[in-house]
Amino acid sequence: MELALDIKDLKKTYASGTPALKGVTLSIPQGDFFALLGPNGAGKTTLISIVTGLADKSSGSVRVFGVDMEKEPQKARLHVGVVPQNFNFNIFEKVIDIVVNQAGYYGIPRSVALPRAKKLLTDLGLGEKLNVTARELSGGMQRRLMIARGLIHEPKLLILDEPTAGVDVELRRSMWAYLEKLTKSGVTILLTTHYLEEAEQLAKRVAIITKGEIIVNGTMEEVLAMHDDSAPKDKYRAGKLEEVFLKLVEGDAPTL
Ligand SMILES: Nc1ncnc2c1ncn2[C@@H]1O[C@H](COP(=O)(O)OP(=O)(O)O)[C@@H](O)[C@H]1O
Ligand SMILES: [Mg+2]
Repeated sequence: MELALDIKDLKKTYASGTPALKGVTLSIPQGDFFALLGPNGAGKTTLISIVTGLADKSSGSVRVFGVDMEKEPQKARLHVGVVPQNFNFNIFEKVIDIVVNQAGYYGIPRSVALPRAKKLLTDLGLGEKLNVTARELSGGMQRRLMIARGLIHEPKLLILDEPTAGVDVELRRSMWAYLEKLTKSGVTILLTTHYLEEAEQLAKRVAIITKGEIIVNGTMEEVLAMHDDSAPKDKYRAGKLEEVFLKLVEGDAPTL
């Protein structure tokens, strides 16, 4: 089967000397719902920035639907949509313009982009907000705006970096439903999250990264099977995935 994303021995050391990725190898089958988990500072956003062409790698390779990011970056980028962790839109621009202007970067004519943007925004519950400026939106609405923008060129792979951070429970659930509908329509999803409950519910496949290294990578069933059912339950801990995660990254968590 064709891989949506094929990352081999990816390394990234920032100019400051921080080794953010220390040889990451990861592949995501087409049509998958993949969760990349890891504590703060693990390297998730760095990995996503490289895959979406926003940051340069130090070494290794990234292929998106078989297209090498280094050799054909423009072509590779056509296949990928991203919902960044940190918003990067112009808050004084109108909602509809933010989405339509993005289409311009992909060479999509305005006549095609406009109805498509309206439909995306309406599906995401922003149909009443097309002509307001982005700064007038709530945080959750801005997040949905970023999803619409990420989908305007109809990418085959959608990458979401902590999309539900700071989003209330109700909206989180409607976002899950939207993402599940997207995967059913054939879009591959890569999601980072620190809500392990969320990953457990949504993802078919999961990888855990800490300190720039992948320490677990498998199907949700395989990773949940690592759970030690005989261990005494910690009263603060919730789902199985969370317990597996905490056990694996033990020692990496900040102490108060
Ligand atoms: N632009 C940058 N310059 C220097 N160091 C960075 C930069 N971005 C991230 N880092 C460092 O790289 C490591 C990984 O960060 P990041 O990819 O943001 O992790 P995560 O998204 O998993 O929280 C951290 O040590 C972080 O401080
Ligand atoms: Mg991050």
